[in-house]
Amino acid sequence: MTANSALRSRQWFGATGRSGMAHRSWMRSQGFTPEVFDGRPVIGIATTWSELAPCNVHLHRVAESVKRGVWQEGGFPLEFPAMALGETLLRPTAMLYRNLLAMEAEELMRANPLDGVVLLSGCDKTTPGLLMAAASVDLPAVMVTGGPMLNGKYRGTDVGSGTAVWRFEEDLVAGRMTQEECAFAEGCMARSNGHCMTMGTASTMASMAEALGMQLPYSATWPAVDARRYETAQRAGQVAVGLVRQDLRPSAIMTRAAFENAIRVNAAIGGSTNAVIHLLAIAGRLGVPLSLDDFDVLARDVPTLLNLQPSGEYLMEDFCYAGGLPAVMRELAGHGLLNGDAITVTGSGVGANVAEAPCWNREVIKTAAEPFQPAGTGTAVLRGNLAPGGAVIKQSASSPHLLKHRGRALVFDSPADYYAVSNDPDLDVDEETVLVVRYCGPRGYPGMPEVSNVALPRKLLLRGVRDMVRICDGRMSGTAYGTVVLHVAPEAAAGGPLALVRTGDWIILDVPARTLRLEVGDEELAARRAQWQPPAPHASRGWTRLYTEHVLQADEGADLDFLVGASGHEVPRESH
Ligand code: FES
Repeated sequence: MTANSALRSRQWFGATGRSGMAHRSWMRSQGFTPEVFDGRPVIGIATTWSELAPCNVHLHRVAESVKRGVWQEGGFPLEFPAMALGETLLRPTAMLYRNLLAMEAEELMRANPLDGVVLLSGCDKTTPGLLMAAASVDLPAVMVTGGPMLNGKYRGTDVGSGTAVWRFEEDLVAGRMTQEECAFAEGCMARSNGHCMTMGTASTMASMAEALGMQLPYSATWPAVDARRYETAQRAGQVAVGLVRQDLRPSAIMTRAAFENAIRVNAAIGGSTNAVIHLLAIAGRLGVPLSLDDFDVLARDVPTLLNLQPSGEYLMEDFCYAGGLPAVMRELAGHGLLNGDAITVTGSGVGANVAEAPCWNREVIKTAAEPFQPAGTGTAVLRGNLAPGGAVIKQSASSPHLLKHRGRALVFDSPADYYAVSNDPDLDVDEETVLVVRYCGPRGYPGMPEVSNVALPRKLLLRGVRDMVRICDGRMSGTAYGTVVLHVAPEAAAGGPLALVRTGDWIILDVPARTLRLEVGDEELAARRAQWQPPAPHASRGWTRLYTEHVLQADEGADLDFLVGASGHEVPRESH
């Protein structure tokens, strides 16, 4: 247990003289009574609330519930803003700013009189960004994600945010839906507070936070508007105080065993490929050895248990009522696929947390004996002369007949170049073609946006084609589907072989063999490389310059090279 005198907040609020007076006096301008400075743990509540991040807009109310819990347990809660990253509005991509959020939150946690933190996140990048920050500061921390939206409802059917957008767009292009119907549907899809309610990246990362042991059981799935979301938040406030008293830190929770659990859970829930990049980045902050290949090796034995969009049928609200993530983890534990001893914010091992977890709906959460999809159909890691650093493909969102495919490349240097011709009836493309869209990686776009699943050419959509092989060095939304090879590393802008592909080259994708090959000889590739010119820098100043000069490749988590690792929580020297 941490003695009160050892609390880092005492170096501010317990100080004597001018300095201590300044630290306390200005805090008292908020109307706090002097007792808050009596040596109780000070718990920061990092909130990524913003009206520009609609998935997180309710987090200020969640923070109020956290505060109740902190007060209840004898702590002193102080809410502070951290950069809100909204997936739907930020350009060129919220991913450009994940590391900036992580850096900002890390510095705020270290520079302020905090003994522990509660991390409030929701939209895709806010969860990994705050976990990266907490890992690098290593103060006791518990996460509370904001929860998914209620199921979308459109003309008597459930529609999933994100996933339905892709379908509506295809239906519009193919003439199956009118513009008016689309406009009506967009209001039906996102109809409550919360993040996307498919198993997109936000739901995936909320599940990853729970699987890692960093948020309380069931936290990932309570809908944003459910009273139990707020109950959980209050409980998390209590837990944060307890974590400080026990001195239980993220480095003791997010161990290799915890990451193995998260990777297997990601396979079991049909989670987003973005989890690969984010988990690698978080592990990098902690010094936990984790490689791209771990995602393939560890997931191979794991069947997909969850029947959720985009791979399946249901939505997060259904998942919640079916038993939530603990029911999935219990099923994994029963088949030796969970490191049950991995400690969590509850103070118990994850195995104990989920041992009695019930399942109420086997249509939504399947058993390992009769899974939704068999083992080995999760995210696969591909290698070959087109992706020496690796690439990934989400098998459960792909078309089975395309997982072994040989086709001619049709190459574009940006999504905009492709969309400029994608409706052309004379475009030289058929369902065998492999669409290559490049310069979409961390350095190339910049920020590695979710543009890889480019819509199919109109002439193919009109012929009823619903999928084709696409290859890109960018990412894909977790809500999306299709046979799309993602995260090709090194990216084209870094001089990866993807930059050398030419229209008409043959490409062989063999997912069962885990290979991605360009049928061009080494001599010819060397000649092409000699002609290749790197693209001009995107920016001469500011964050974008810092980012593009220091960002790592996708297979290393796309963190900045100088942010890998931790700086701890030593109290900085006095400010006055
Ligand atoms: Fe925020 Fe999907 S856009 S979670």
